[in-house]
Amino acid sequence: MKLKIAVLAGDGIGPEIMEQGVAVLSAVADKFGHEVSFQEALVGAHAIDEVGNPFPDETYEACMQADAVLFASVGDPKFDNNPNAKVRPEQGLLAMRKKLGLFANIRPVETFECLIHKSPLKDELVRGADFICIRELTGGMYFGEKREGTDEAYDTNKYTRPEVERILRVAYQYARQRRKHLTVVDKANVLASSRLWRAVAQEMAPEYPDVTTDFMYVDNAAMRMIQEPKFFDVMVTENTFGDILTDEGSCITGSMGLLPSASTGEHTPVFEPIHGSWPQAKGLNIANPLAQILSVAMLYEYFGLAAEGALIREAVNASLDQNVRTPEIQVAGGAQYGTKEVGQWIVDYILQKK
Ligand code: IPM
Ligand code: MN
Repeated sequence: MKLKIAVLAGDGIGPEIMEQGVAVLSAVADKFGHEVSFQEALVGAHAIDEVGNPFPDETYEACMQADAVLFASVGDPKFDNNPNAKVRPEQGLLAMRKKLGLFANIRPVETFECLIHKSPLKDELVRGADFICIRELTGGMYFGEKREGTDEAYDTNKYTRPEVERILRVAYQYARQRRKHLTVVDKANVLASSRLWRAVAQEMAPEYPDVTTDFMYVDNAAMRMIQEPKFFDVMVTENTFGDILTDEGSCITGSMGLLPSASTGEHTPVFEPIHGSWPQAKGLNIANPLAQILSVAMLYEYFGLAAEGALIREAVNASLDQNVRTPEIQVAGGAQYGTKEVGQWIVDYILQKK
């Protein structure tokens, strides 16, 4: 297969983990005889510094012309600490989501046996937890009408029926391929927008008789995720709730640095780690590249290349089993591996695999 990849490394640790993601993508392409080309483009704080725009038109064009976007992270403390900043790196990410029509954000919450002790939850609660959160990504408060005055400010949580219906369809498709259990998370006891979500879901449920649909208020879902994470198979929710619940989900697995995601929709799909740009670690060769590398696995799988994805997952699991790990997940007394060394080990594993 021929694949054109737009590479948006962004800020902080982004370029370092991206280097490893690209190396793995290329190694797998060599192994399986795919022809991959890369086009780098600016995004985030980096893009603001260079051209004054966190998602420049050239970057948008590069994304639109690509088959897939591999994205790392954006964000820089110099903007976080300045409430008057006119443009922010995060706006680059939001602009990309909106312009590419990336309405479905797929965030798997998976546990790795060797990292279970890192979870703040008891082993028996978290072992075997395996669900995905489908987060609506281009609607709700993030994009609704806003006012930002000094005495009054608001964000509008608006959803239309077609927006709700299309994300629910994506969720039902995933549920069908998994354990056939869909949980629709809302706040229908208080919010009008949530009642629309619930009404649309109730209308659609009979079209998917093989899937069990249940409804849960978001506050209850936040609690259930730590009390009984194994309850969930596929969860679907609006933009803001999904943002919050997926951070919770990533930390209960004990491995925030290991979780990839995919965002799909109307145009080019984007694959990215769910963690941020960790500016304090920039240039230190300590960031875990595994979420970026697993995002590459999701990219291959998206194009139906299951064996390619499986080989990457196998290599990642082997690296963990053999304690080839970055410092934050290394066992006491274990050898120290940096971002580059972990990436290189995985590349070698892939190339040497018979
Ligand atoms: C995420 C991030 C973003 C979001 C930020 C960086 C704008 O937290 O992808 O979850 O809130 O969506
Ligand atoms: Mn978030």
